[in-house]
Amino acid sequence: MTDWVGQAAANAPQATKGLVNALAAVSDALHWQQTYSKDDMGQRFLDRYGWFMLVGPNAPVMSGALLSGVLLLGPDVEYPVHKHAAEEIYVTLSGNASWKIGEADWHLKAAGSIIHNPPWQAHAMRTDQGEPLLVAFLWDAGRLEKSKLASPIR
Ligand SMILES: [Fe+2]
Repeated sequence: MTDWVGQAAANAPQATKGLVNALAAVSDALHWQQTYSKDDMGQRFLDRYGWFMLVGPNAPVMSGALLSGVLLLGPDVEYPVHKHAAEEIYVTLSGNASWKIGEADWHLKAAGSIIHNPPWQAHAMRTDQGEPLLVAFLWDAGRLEKSKLASPIR
């Protein structure tokens, strides 16, 4: 994960560079986790995927109301269409990537974009620009459950 975070720091736009550099400096100390298994997504995806929590029921800052952390995807993977009960806001910190939000077609979003997903709105990301994607997320922690994949990939 740390290699991708370093690359994300190198690619980060001026607006987020300080924050991404700070994350890169502590990357080895972060508790990187994965929601999915090899059966869900395949090993190649798992090698390029991880997240850590900063705020949440079991996070360094405990909260029952808000869940917040950072998701990392390495280059050239697709996080397939999925949806969840929790309302969500993403802030992309580094990485130009393609996103599919709701019924809209895939489209490019630059680092610094903000994406809002109401409960159960389908969404997906593709790191098809050769760059890792580092995204802060905030969830309404009231209704937590494992994301449901629309079409699991192998
Ligand atoms: Fe999501």
